[in-house]
Amino acid sequence: MKIFVAGHNGMVGKAVSNKINQSGKHQLITCSRSELDLSNQSDVMDFYNDKKPDIVIDAAAKVGGILANNNFPYEFIMENLKIQNNLIDGALKNDVNQFIFLGSSCIYPKFAAQPLKEEYLLTNSLEPTNEWYAIAKIAGVKACEAASKQYKKNYISLMPTNLYGENDNFDLNSSHVLPAMIRKFHEAKLNNHADVELWGDGSPFREFMHVKDLAEAVFFAINNNLSDTLYNVGTGSDISIKNLALLIQKTIGHTGKIKWNDQMPNGTPKKLMDVSRLNDKGWKAHIKLEDGIQSTYHWFLSNQESLRKVIMK
Ligand SMILES: NC(=O)c1ccc[n+]([C@@H]2O[C@H](COP(=O)([O-])OP(=O)(O)OC[C@H]3O[C@@H](n4cnc5c(N)ncnc54)[C@H](OP(=O)(O)O)[C@@H]3O)[C@@H](O)[C@H]2O)c1
Repeated sequence: MKIFVAGHNGMVGKAVSNKINQSGKHQLITCSRSELDLSNQSDVMDFYNDKKPDIVIDAAAKVGGILANNNFPYEFIMENLKIQNNLIDGALKNDVNQFIFLGSSCIYPKFAAQPLKEEYLLTNSLEPTNEWYAIAKIAGVKACEAASKQYKKNYISLMPTNLYGENDNFDLNSSHVLPAMIRKFHEAKLNNHADVELWGDGSPFREFMHVKDLAEAVFFAINNNLSDTLYNVGTGSDISIKNLALLIQKTIGHTGKIKWNDQMPNGTPKKLMDVSRLNDKGWKAHIKLEDGIQSTYHWFLSNQESLRKVIMK
């Protein structure tokens, strides 16, 4: 099979591409942003015409944390809609039979019952800090569902929980909580174990999964004919932000104080995925948070010179 991984230079795209290459079973197709801007509809159409992939994995998106989402709501909704629409519609018009759309757990309502089940989608209001991104992602889920329903295609959506791992974004202006904590504790340690300021009060609970586990889930989805169009992907267990901070602090060996800035937003109080739908099909995450943080910190230390610089605009 010819598999096109869109966004192969990102954290998820790299992990998925590595998994496909390691399997030795498929031909991987990639194209970097400088060669193909996925928000350009006619260029994406030409690319599909030329490459004729059998399977498409959409790991391309404008991704960022609370600050970036808050500052750039228009770009978060519009760029993501353009990228995913071009990829999904281009795939459909070029007879691609299998499409995997990657969304995020932020598609579920802010106060939905926990753990989050797939059927809670569109049952209540979203968390306002990232609703722009979430609305684009919900449109992607629905576009895949519509393609499956109307054109009998195998177009499905995987909703991963919070991810971390090699090739993550450690830029404090746009990074997610876990890589941001790694960077903050590391820099504070180098600065005579200075105090570390973290956002919120540490009370929210979050689930974190290593990106290699997600790559396994994507590979599982390629190789198994999944009957539903939406699957949560996570570990099934969560941790408070306070305890996550203590775990990262211990892993890094920082001995200063942690100061919680409760003027900054906490976000949704708890976000844990119900992963029974995909678990029942035979896939399960297996990397422990302690081990994943350790290996991610080692990767961060060995890649200081080549860390991504993400400029949000
Ligand atoms: N990270 C998480 O915690 C997390 C959690 C749940 C779900 N996900 C989902 O997983 C997917 C990938 O996330 P990620 O963390 O891997 O993000 P990422 O590291 O920022 O990667 C996104 C990739 O998309 C590419 N891209 C963005 N706009 C593009 C454009 N207009 N044309 C061409 N390429 C473009 C980027 O290219 P450049 O390299 O040139 O910037 C980058 O390689 C997203 O759909 C996200 O919602 C991520």
